[in-house]
Amino acid sequence: MSQRNVVVGVAGGIAAYKACHLIRDFKEAGDDVRVVPTANALNFVGAATFEALSGHPVDTGVFERVDEVQHVRIGQEADLIVVAPATADVIARIAAGRADDLLTATVLVATCPVVVAPAMHTEMWHNAATQTNVATLRSRGVTVLEPAHGRLTGKDSGPGRLLEPQAIAELARTVATTGPLGRPLEGKRVLVSAGGTQENIDPVRYVGNRSSGRQGFALADIAAHKGAQVTVVAGNTEALETPAGADVVRVTSTRDMEREMRSRAPEADVVIMAAAVADYRPAHEATSKLKKGQADASLERIELVENPDILRGLVDMRDNGETTAAIMGFAAETDNALEYGKAKLARKGADLLMVNDVSGGKVFGQARNSGWLLSRDGGVATIEDGTKHEVAAQIWSAIEAAGHDTEA
Ligand code: CTP
Repeated sequence: MSQRNVVVGVAGGIAAYKACHLIRDFKEAGDDVRVVPTANALNFVGAATFEALSGHPVDTGVFERVDEVQHVRIGQEADLIVVAPATADVIARIAAGRADDLLTATVLVATCPVVVAPAMHTEMWHNAATQTNVATLRSRGVTVLEPAHGRLTGKDSGPGRLLEPQAIAELARTVATTGPLGRPLEGKRVLVSAGGTQENIDPVRYVGNRSSGRQGFALADIAAHKGAQVTVVAGNTEALETPAGADVVRVTSTRDMEREMRSRAPEADVVIMAAAVADYRPAHEATSKLKKGQADASLERIELVENPDILRGLVDMRDNGETTAAIMGFAAETDNALEYGKAKLARKGADLLMVNDVSGGKVFGQARNSGWLLSRDGGVATIEDGTKHEVAAQIWSAIEAAGHDTEA
C-alpha cells in the first residue's frame, strides 16, 4: 500500500493520550504522520511526545513557522485527516468553519477525507448544539464516528468515550479508500452472525473451524457507524475486540446460534449470516472427558449428526412472512467459486450471497478478503481486494444501492 500523508488532529481532552497509539498505528502501516494538536491538547500530552512519535515538528497556532505557510500547506498535502479525540469545542469550531488555530485552519483548507472521533461527556454529546454540529459535518461529507459507550473520566459511564486507537485507524483507512461512511442506515436494524460455531465432543474437546469472525465484526462495525442499530450473534471469534457500537450475544453451538438468530430476525431489516457454521455435531456429547481406548465412547469414531441450516431456516421465515428482512449469506469455496456460489444462492434462496475464494488458506483468519456479491435478481458485483473493513464498506454500499436495506 502506498504511503499516505496522514494528519492526526488532537483536541484538548483527557483521551489525547490515546492519540499516541493512533499515531503509532499509522506510522507502523508506513504512513507519514503530521500531528496538529490544539493548544489545550498540549495540557494533556507534551509536544515532545508528538514530535518523537511523528518525526515532525508540532505547532498549534497559525503564527508559528509563518514563512512555511503551514496553516495552508499541511491541509493541502494531507491525504487523510483524523481528529481524535475531537472535543465538543473542536467539533463546533470545525462546523462553524473557524480557522483560529492550526488544526481548524488545516481542516478548512483540506479537500481529502476527514474522520472525526468524538470524545466528551455524555451530556455534551447529547446536547442539541453538539448533535446539530455533528449533523452539519456529516452533511458535508465528514465521517463522524460514533463514540464508544463506557467509562468516562470520572465515575460516570455512557456514550462519549473515545473509540480504541486501532478501531479508529481501521475505520479511517476504510474511509480513505472507500469514501465517507455517511448515515444511510439510520433507523435500520441489522443482525449479523460472526465467527465459528463449536460442537462439544466432551468437556475438553470440540468440533470447530478456522473462522476468526473478522468479516462479520467488520460488517457490524461499519453498519453501526452508518447509523444502524446492530446486534451480533458471535460464535468463536478468537481474541477480537468486539465492535464498539454493536450489542454482542455470545453463543457456542450451531443450535444456540440458530435460536438467537431466529428470535431476533422478525425485528431486523437486514440479516447477514457471516458465521462459519459447524455443519455437523457429535451425536452424543460426553459429560466427562473421554479416555483413549475407552470401549463404550471411543475417540476413534465419533458419530456425527447434521446441524440445522440456519440460513435456510431464516429464508423460510422470510417466505412465511415471519420477517421482512433482506437476508444475506456467505459462501466459502475452494474451487469454481463463482459457479458454485451462483448455485448456492439459488439453493439457499437468500437475497444476497457474498462468495469468497478460500483456496490456499485465503480469507480464514486473514486480514484481507475479496470476491463477488451475488443477488437473487442475477446481479454480480465485484468486491475488490481489501481489508475486511474495506470489504464490509463495499458490501454495505452494494446493499444500499440495491435498496435491500429499505425493503422492510
Ligand atoms: N450456513 C448456515 N447453517 C449451516 C451451514 C451454513 O446458516 N448449517 C450458512 C453460512 O453462515 C453461510 C452460508 O450458509 O452464510 C453458506 O455456508 P457454506 O459453508 O459455504 O455452505 P454450506 O451450506 O455448508 O454448503 P457446502 O458445505 O455444501 O458448500
